[in-house]
Amino acid sequence: MQTFTLHNPLDMHLHLREGDLLKAVLPFSATPFSAAVVMPNLSTPLSTPALALAYQAQITALAPHFKPLVALYLNEELSKESLQSAKEQGLFLLKLYPKNATTNSAQGVSDILSPKMLEILDIAQDLGFILCVHAESVGFVLEREFEFHPVIHTLAKTFNKLTIILEHMSDRRSVALLEQYPNLYATLTLHHLTLNLDALAGGMLSPHLFCKPLLKTPKDQVTLLELALKAHKKVCFGSDSAPHLLATKHTCTCAAGVFSAPLLLSGLCTLFEKHNALEHLQDFISTNAVRIYRLTDLPAKTITLQRTPPNLPNALLDGQLIIPHFMPLEWSVLK
Ligand code: NCD
Ligand code: ZN
Repeated sequence: MQTFTLHNPLDMHLHLREGDLLKAVLPFSATPFSAAVVMPNLSTPLSTPALALAYQAQITALAPHFKPLVALYLNEELSKESLQSAKEQGLFLLKLYPKNATTNSAQGVSDILSPKMLEILDIAQDLGFILCVHAESVGFVLEREFEFHPVIHTLAKTFNKLTIILEHMSDRRSVALLEQYPNLYATLTLHHLTLNLDALAGGMLSPHLFCKPLLKTPKDQVTLLELALKAHKKVCFGSDSAPHLLATKHTCTCAAGVFSAPLLLSGLCTLFEKHNALEHLQDFISTNAVRIYRLTDLPAKTITLQRTPPNLPNALLDGQLIIPHFMPLEWSVLK
């Protein structure tokens, strides 16, 4: 049987939620991945170091061999002292949510380039934080990432010593920004590499493929896929796996988020093999991120996959959480 081995896989954009949902989804990430950047958009956003550290400790208690890198929810109340204390206690990521851009972002930043915000970002730069950005405007849904470019230009120029991550890059026009700014990088999701808007809305509507940023055109998809397949030095893997219960997915309105955690390694292996690029998967899923985020002390994990379709459940939590099987899976993780 053909096998393939990965060392220390990393997911640089992950939503783990709270309570029973956290307990149900965590093993899919914590078992095969060494570490993940865990997003702070909980129902009470992780807007203080104390909240972020408590959440980090809670995850570590549930999964001792997995390193959760919890991002602090950027907000105007963060003082120099609190950022310093956060850094001393091991937090090093800030997540910028433009107000109302996505799930639980009502307390996001309303004026990103306000004097107060610029002052906070200046301190963050001096302290060596990394800024993760949900890079979308609140304009027309397919143009949101593009419309956000002026903000990225300003941030990347003004804070040229600050590492900035354009999260879940979805628009091919963003690639030029990566080329332009040495301090700008991007995460790429599995669903934006394998799907386009047709999967969501081309036939019957697929609520489980509705996410922010929205899936885009085939040209966008192909351009992002090219970056991933060659493990371009400015990109790394960040799944944006974002579970929502059926109660918020299957109603008149549908929460944004694709719950991809259960299929990530199988899916990436299948995708990279299909394009004869398996040799670059290690860089895409680990090495690039170690360099970009300057990661040390990762729990060592060696994950072997074999070339046989996995046996994934269709749902969890008594059917309340659907696992969308959105792509063919030809590899499975060996237990
Ligand atoms: C995420 C969520 O549900 O928390 N949703 C999504 O569609 N990606 C938030 C986010 O990353 O935008
Ligand atoms: Zn996200």
